[in-house]
Amino acid sequence: MPIRGHSLHHAKKSASHSSSCSTSLLFISLLCLASLFLVYSLFKSSVSPHNHQNLQFKRSDSSGTPILVEPCDYSDGMWIYDPSVRSAPYDHTCKEIFKGWNCIASNKSNGLDIIKWHWKPKGCDLPRFDPVRFLERFRNTNVEACFTPISCRWSADANGGTLESLGYKEGFRVDVDIPDGTWAEAPSFHDILIFNTGHWWWAPSKFDPVKSPMLFFENGLPLIPALPPHVGLDLVLKHMISFVERRMRTGGIKFFRTQSPRHFEGGDWDQGGFCQHLQPLLPEQVEELFSLENNGTNVETRLVNQHLYKALQGSDFHILEITRMSEFRADAHPSTAGGKKHDDCMHWCLPGTTDTWNDLFITHLNNIKFQN
Ligand SMILES: *[C@@H]1O[C@H](CO)[C@@H](O)[C@H](O)[C@H]1NC(C)=O
Ligand SMILES: *[C@@H]1O[C@H](CO)[C@@H](O)[C@H](O)[C@H]1NC(C)=O
Repeated sequence: MPIRGHSLHHAKKSASHSSSCSTSLLFISLLCLASLFLVYSLFKSSVSPHNHQNLQFKRSDSSGTPILVEPCDYSDGMWIYDPSVRSAPYDHTCKEIFKGWNCIASNKSNGLDIIKWHWKPKGCDLPRFDPVRFLERFRNTNVEACFTPISCRWSADANGGTLESLGYKEGFRVDVDIPDGTWAEAPSFHDILIFNTGHWWWAPSKFDPVKSPMLFFENGLPLIPALPPHVGLDLVLKHMISFVERRMRTGGIKFFRTQSPRHFEGGDWDQGGFCQHLQPLLPEQVEELFSLENNGTNVETRLVNQHLYKALQGSDFHILEITRMSEFRADAHPSTAGGKKHDDCMHWCLPGTTDTWNDLFITHLNNIKFQN
């Protein structure tokens, strides 16, 4: 089935919001991931662009006749509390949800409220995903979400001297041009792929730029002088996108999901950072936390997105812009209920915000597959 490429127009920028980019993982075999937050001295822009995502929402009326609705910027909207939403009992009896993310079982004080917030785009509605209908429509379709590249930590003795010759005792080798084995075959096998990348690109606590830096390799050789991570990210994205475009099976559909925001306040995860909100943030609070000018703890969110949008320009990936809606959801992380020594303001409570991502994904997919 041909892909209609117009369903999402991205990259229109406006001056007042920014957004981010998310990348994710998969692809990157290249990446060794981890979260790196790099230093991004580069981007000191005074304008933070908000990337608008337009989607034509299509519905049926009661007789089943499709109604085409005007394109809608679904990334522009607000969260509305709907007390009538009831969660299925995703409590301690639900073993499928990892316990650190099950905020109902862990008694997070707003655990039951998290899914009562519904994303309402300004000019349209985002329909809830209907699992049965989805399975019927996409029978015999292979869908894969690719992420998490492998971290390839090196230590000098394991590595035959290459690192040592560069003056490092340990580091993370990232081959920018070699797809990771975990997904290299995916484009030729799956019908639908969803990529994303991690937070690792701006993570000085994981990738000490001096003691254990990320070292980028191309054609099997180290790139010297060593590249800063944001430059390595661009290379990884470039190779990954072109690899997937070359290898994707005919008619296959590729998505790139934008960056999932973290919500640490008062410091990073290892500095006592916390996220104690019980309701979604207000727009001013979102800007306070994420604007590039503020250069706050979670600044990588929009930075990674900038790289992502740039890399995807001109490609035929569809972009799932989940960043903007998710930036509001400081209330939806496990926080102290995650069972760790520190607050978890990075992963999401399940069910929760990621279910809205699914709603968006399914709407988007239907839009691509069933247009006309
Ligand atoms: C942003 O903050 C980090 C650490 O908090 C600092 O190292 C970096 O230089 C700052 N970047 C800019 C562009 O101000
Ligand atoms: C949550 O509360 C229930 C009922 O009070 C209790 O049995 C359970 O141990 C609590 N779970 C956690 C992780 O604290």
